[in-house]
Amino acid sequence: MKDGKEYHLNLLISREQIASIVKGLADQISRDYGQRELVLVCILKGAFMFLSDLVRHLQAPVQIDFARLASYGAGMKSTGLIEITKDIEVSVEGKDVLIVEDIIDSGRTVRFLKERLALSKPRSIKVCALLDKKARRDVEMEADYIGKEVDDLFVVGYGIDFNEAYRNLPEIYYVTTTDR
Ligand code: IMP
Ligand code: MG
Repeated sequence: MKDGKEYHLNLLISREQIASIVKGLADQISRDYGQRELVLVCILKGAFMFLSDLVRHLQAPVQIDFARLASYGAGMKSTGLIEITKDIEVSVEGKDVLIVEDIIDSGRTVRFLKERLALSKPRSIKVCALLDKKARRDVEMEADYIGKEVDDLFVVGYGIDFNEAYRNLPEIYYVTTTDR
């Protein structure tokens, strides 16, 4: 990036740690839902890798759908405004729904989607987040399944981006900057 800053990636969560966190979440979900059919709603793009690993561990019948919500502009600051740019396509009426998110930060994105999905009268609606920045909440939002709480760091990797870069990294890093 040409902003006079140098960006550094610092390892935060290794592949092995991610695998064990994801397996732990899948086990909890399997225990709670049993053989009930579950609709997983993955929030694009950040949660795509998490979803794909998570579903491989689930034994119950699942349906998978995707929603895309934009809250971040370019860079590391959120605008606070949420817009839905791709809605889900399956019907969730009367169904058990689990929102799958990469990180909860201010809480706005997940809250927005949860309220919106609730209008379709699902049987239940819960939230599973790989990472949770609890200290940064602007609105009330408690996830039902949380992989790991993280400090107020900007993280990338394992689906999570910085200006669309780094989503492919198999580990999770936090970004630090120094002046060039
Ligand atoms: P919230 O609406 O403020 O909770 O923001 C959640 C969204 O912001 C997530 O879906 C992420 O896409 C993005 N986000 C929050 N923290 C980070 C981060 O540390 N790195 C990259 N994206 C982030
Ligand atoms: Mg996201």
